[in-house]
Amino acid sequence: MPDYTAIILAAGKGTRMKSELPKVMHKLAGKPLIDHVLDSIEKLGVSEVLTIVGHGREIVTEHIKGRSEIVIQHEQLGTGHALLQAAPFLKKNKGVLVLSGDQPLLTSDTLDSLVKMHEESNSSATVLTAQMDNPYGYGRIIRNEGTFKAIVEEKDSDESQKRIKEINTGTYCFVGFSLQEALTRITPKNSQGEYYLTDVFDSLLSQGDSIETFCTLDSTQALGINNRVQLAEAEDILFDRIRKYWMMEGVTIINPSSVFIDADAVLEQDVIIHPYSIIKGKTKIEEGAIIGPSTILENCYCQKRCKIENSVAREATIGQDCLIGPFAYLRPQTRLDKGVKVGDFVEIKNSSVGEGSKIPHLSYIGDSDIGKNVNIGAGTITCNYDGYKKHKTVIDDDVFVGSNTNLVAPVRIGKSSVIGAGSTITKDVPSKALALERAAQKTIENYQKDKDK
Ligand code: UD1
Ligand code: CA
Repeated sequence: MPDYTAIILAAGKGTRMKSELPKVMHKLAGKPLIDHVLDSIEKLGVSEVLTIVGHGREIVTEHIKGRSEIVIQHEQLGTGHALLQAAPFLKKNKGVLVLSGDQPLLTSDTLDSLVKMHEESNSSATVLTAQMDNPYGYGRIIRNEGTFKAIVEEKDSDESQKRIKEINTGTYCFVGFSLQEALTRITPKNSQGEYYLTDVFDSLLSQGDSIETFCTLDSTQALGINNRVQLAEAEDILFDRIRKYWMMEGVTIINPSSVFIDADAVLEQDVIIHPYSIIKGKTKIEEGAIIGPSTILENCYCQKRCKIENSVAREATIGQDCLIGPFAYLRPQTRLDKGVKVGDFVEIKNSSVGEGSKIPHLSYIGDSDIGKNVNIGAGTITCNYDGYKKHKTVIDDDVFVGSNTNLVAPVRIGKSSVIGAGSTITKDVPSKALALERAAQKTIENYQKDKDK
């Protein structure tokens, strides 16, 4: 990759989004639009990245710091004006790659082809174009006998220009000094009263420079996001791309269109995903795991061969061969070791559960450390909250907790001890003990009157 500076235009208000949030911070497959653009650029390997920020710049700057230099456009007077703010930072002989922060589907492969074409052509600028079935809203590429002449915006175009299907993707390569000069010459003489970046091409052509174009065959990559309908369309396309990618990597997805996998999730081969499942954030799923149906995993680590059915898990680690669900809820900081079983209507939060332990039905486990081979009976509750503070429950290895038990924290249940069903345990239990806390059963004989009389 030759020496390039990438410039991302991301200062616009995104008026058509009708949102408080800056447009480039809206999420697509789990992360902001601008992250997708930064990912492609980083994969391409440019030497420098500048992002033009303006509207909502505190939020955008905070989010991308460390990944890009920041240039502020104080007033949003158009794409040409935005790029002009970066002009002082451009090196004369260096290549410049200009991208829009609202175009998240462009791949690094396409950018690579664009740069190659630009380098080979020796032209001052190369425009990435695409053929769109519905070109409405995009700038159209005007040609004269095949040669690039100009870009005309939708709002400035006449009827015959509106029928042109080749559009400007808003992604370009420039020679640094040509761009610097041309930017100083653009004016806001158009229907929107804006400084159009696309006017630099008129300026370059008028001084005899040549402009090259590169048409991407995959028009979906050109999709610009200006409103929430386009955001949803782009997300559909991206989810489809992600599913196909993982299927080609050896993941089985049953009824793919009902499964959504975020861009940063990682799956290993022979994972099976059943319908209506959502894999969010940086979730990692290891070999042989079976997920779903109807399961949501967010930022989870699912180890080899675990099975998770009809459940929700967030920021949880699920060990090898664990069986989860149906209808389990694993909340942040849940850590399950190998072979743990968590059954129906069980909620676990900020707790670790040792190898082979079982929590099969109707339990709440919070702020607890549970050892190995523990059996937690149906309906067991760790009472971790006294109204003021959270307290910890410790259950050592090989403990048997009878059904319908309350463990009032802080409390420790020693190794191999047994808790009788229905107990409310408030004091520590030593190892190998039986602890029982219930009123003695009272039985009144012949309590019912004989109904025959
Ligand atoms: C632009 C192009 C159009 C192209 C389309 C591709 C111009 C004049 N038009 O139109 O030819 O088909 O992209 O999607 O360039 N921005 C700033 N500062 C501003 C204005 C915009 O940084 O003052 C940024 C926006 O945040 C956005 C990008 O520039 O990321 C493009 O701006 P937008 O208003 O979306 O341009 P389009 O109307 O889509
Ligand atoms: Ca746009």
